[in-house]
Amino acid sequence: MKNIDFNFKNRTAIVTGGAQGFGLNIAKRFLNSGAKVIIWDVDPEMLDKSNKELNSPNLISHVVDVSKYKEVEHFTKEVIKKSNIDILINNAGITGPTASLWEYDIEMWKKVVDINLMGTFNCCRAIVPNMIKNNYGRIVNVASVAGKDGNANASAYSVGKAGAIGLTKSLGKELADKNIAVNAVTPAGAKTRILDQMTKEHVQRMLSKVPRGRFLEVEEFTSLVCWLSSEENTFSTAAVFDISGGRSTY
Ligand SMILES: NC(=O)c1ccc[n+]([C@@H]2O[C@H](COP(=O)([O-])OP(=O)(O)OC[C@H]3O[C@@H](n4cnc5c(N)ncnc54)[C@H](O)[C@@H]3O)[C@@H](O)[C@H]2O)c1
Repeated sequence: MKNIDFNFKNRTAIVTGGAQGFGLNIAKRFLNSGAKVIIWDVDPEMLDKSNKELNSPNLISHVVDVSKYKEVEHFTKEVIKKSNIDILINNAGITGPTASLWEYDIEMWKKVVDINLMGTFNCCRAIVPNMIKNNYGRIVNVASVAGKDGNANASAYSVGKAGAIGLTKSLGKELADKNIAVNAVTPAGAKTRILDQMTKEHVQRMLSKVPRGRFLEVEEFTSLVCWLSSEENTFSTAAVFDISGGRSTY
């Protein structure tokens, strides 16, 4: 697939969970399109690897756990000392174990919701005031088809992603009178490390529901995220953009 470059010159973007998978690919396309990129990820080793791979003077990385508001607030202040934040991609996420709700480890359930939902809230909470001040912002919240359909044996993940969709609709309306767009995207399965957290049967079940009959490519996902993050997106907000190969047609 040919990668189209967007125009992100003079834009600063924060990509959470950008040390690998979707986030890394988004960071790469942002950099190639002229943006300054800050990656926030909880995994220092993967951050080190991605820094080497991206190898750009326009890249900064911070070890941040998005589920911890104090950390998010601290690093937001660090970033805005130097530049405004134009783009926020809330992409950090984990699936947690594949287990029925009544057998789910309670602490793990809370952790999955904390990262997928509270992480999105924390980053929006800390960064939106800077966007309001500048009357410019593009926020993309990476949800999942699980948040629309509800996947069996993935209750915490489905709840976290459904919550992120609700948050998107609410915040998008709160900011609709400004040049700030807040949208969610709902990908189906793509071959990133996150699939290792699920059982093979669970992954096969997910794939069997996709009319396209294949996994989503990370580059295909990045294209949608880039358009939603671009200056050209002047009208769409508080919306959910599906990229599930025909699985969730609503
Ligand atoms: N790959 C898929 O099939 C798929 C499908 C639907 C939605 N998604 C969503 O896409 C997003 C990216 O997933 P991916 O497939 O690239 O997975 P991935 O595991 O390759 O990458 C996720 C990144 O998030 C980071 N992360 C995890 N917890 C964090 C925290 N508390 N703070 C900061 N960073 C944290 C990880 O270290 C990792 O680098 C996730 O939100 C995921 O739920 C993925």
